[in-house]
Amino acid sequence: MTRRCLCPGSFDPVTRGHLDVVERAAALFDEVVVAVLHNPAKRGVFDIETRIDLIERSIVPALAASGRVSVREFGARLVVDVCREVGASAIVKGVRGSADYSYEVPMALMNAHLSGVETVFLAADPRWGHVSSSLVREVAAHGADVSELVPEPVRAALSARNAGRQPDA
Ligand code: PNS
Repeated sequence: MTRRCLCPGSFDPVTRGHLDVVERAAALFDEVVVAVLHNPAKRGVFDIETRIDLIERSIVPALAASGRVSVREFGARLVVDVCREVGASAIVKGVRGSADYSYEVPMALMNAHLSGVETVFLAADPRWGHVSSSLVREVAAHGADVSELVPEPVRAALSARNAGRQPDA
């Protein structure tokens, strides 16, 4: 039986922290579905097609070639419905610290309540403990070098987005 997990998020844009979680999930499960979902608490910056393209171009070549990781959009659907549709038995999330934990645990409990699907928390690699999509966007908008925090396609996309525009207020 194929053991499949879901790595959900808004990935706006994908960071090295996200990619680390996907790679570690792929070491635990046969297949990983990276699910790009709408977070109602967040206003999107990159369009969905761009987010997916950036994730696909950023997954390490060996893992991409294995065919064990797919990247799909699921809009504003419930994550448990997505798990059911793709046949995922678990959700995998990275946790950077107590703020993430406080945010994630109620969702994990709700998802277990709704469907029985378990959430597996991976302690974030300390290298990426300070890395979030929003902080990366913010510092990149002010011209900071984010090449150590995001894969090259994302650095280039941020640079193109920021070219010729004022930093976000
Ligand atoms: O990267 P993010 O923005 O922290 O990801 C949050 C996300 C998209 C995973 C979360 O908002 C989510 O699961 N949305 C799907 C809708 C849903 O299932 N909501 C109920 C969660 S208990």
